[in-house]
Amino acid sequence: MQSTSQKSNTMSSLENLRNLPTIPKVMFEVSSLLKENPINNHKLCNTIGKDQGLTTKILTIANSPLYGLQRKVSSLEFAILLLGAEELESIVTAVSLSDTIKFNASSTFKYMEYWKHSMLVGTAARDIARRLGMPELAGDAFLAGMMHDVGIQLIIKYFPNQYDQILKTVEDSKISFLEAEQKILDATHQEIGKFLAQKWSLPQGLCDVLEYHHRPQDAKQNTMLVSIVHLTDYMTQQFECGHSFWDKNVLFDPIVSDILGFSSVEELGSFTADYKEVFEDAAESLTL
Ligand SMILES: [Fe+2]
Ligand SMILES: [Fe+2]
Repeated sequence: MQSTSQKSNTMSSLENLRNLPTIPKVMFEVSSLLKENPINNHKLCNTIGKDQGLTTKILTIANSPLYGLQRKVSSLEFAILLLGAEELESIVTAVSLSDTIKFNASSTFKYMEYWKHSMLVGTAARDIARRLGMPELAGDAFLAGMMHDVGIQLIIKYFPNQYDQILKTVEDSKISFLEAEQKILDATHQEIGKFLAQKWSLPQGLCDVLEYHHRPQDAKQNTMLVSIVHLTDYMTQQFECGHSFWDKNVLFDPIVSDILGFSSVEELGSFTADYKEVFEDAAESLTL
């Protein structure tokens, strides 16, 4: 473990960065168009349609088996009609925020892998919130699931040498990625992600998920949201489906079983087992 001054070095160099990504314009544009009454679908379609990547991702998410729409969505026009304002805004927010910090793929990091992992955790977190009788948390769970590992992108972008050292440390000493982050940066992708979420003034629930998704026992508030994302993140490892190498060997915290209202970890286990097949279908449908 390095000294605390090292930690402040990592975090203060982030604070001193002048080229941190900003919230994408399209998010504000879409959000203000969705507030109009009646909503001008044509204008909305044009605004979103300008960004082909965003359009493709909206359709991919809407058609994911984990998203649970009953009909195939083949065009943006139809997606807008079928999803409605709230769902559409939530997808546009999650995708555009996540795209705005997109790093260049490298030999050790495939963007597709990151995207698949984020999408699975986001859509599954949304579904689990609904199935556990918390539909009011579904939108936040989706956004938090999509963004939970955003700190990894920041490490790659702003600390590329340390990122390489982290990979080497994982390889040489067989410790987890999270432990190696702590060792090299004296911070993990959790605090680093939270830093960006705070900088962007995103909701507290999202900041808490980013900060505590690997240690839900430390969360003081928004524990439901943190637990849902911890669980879905772990499910990708458990099912070996859409899982990420940086989360390899992360531990499951049984406290989430209590928080989510299961009578035992076994009961939670049978609840999650039902998801294996739909995770596999969803992962397969996510090729962009
Ligand atoms: Fe993580
Ligand atoms: Fe993750």
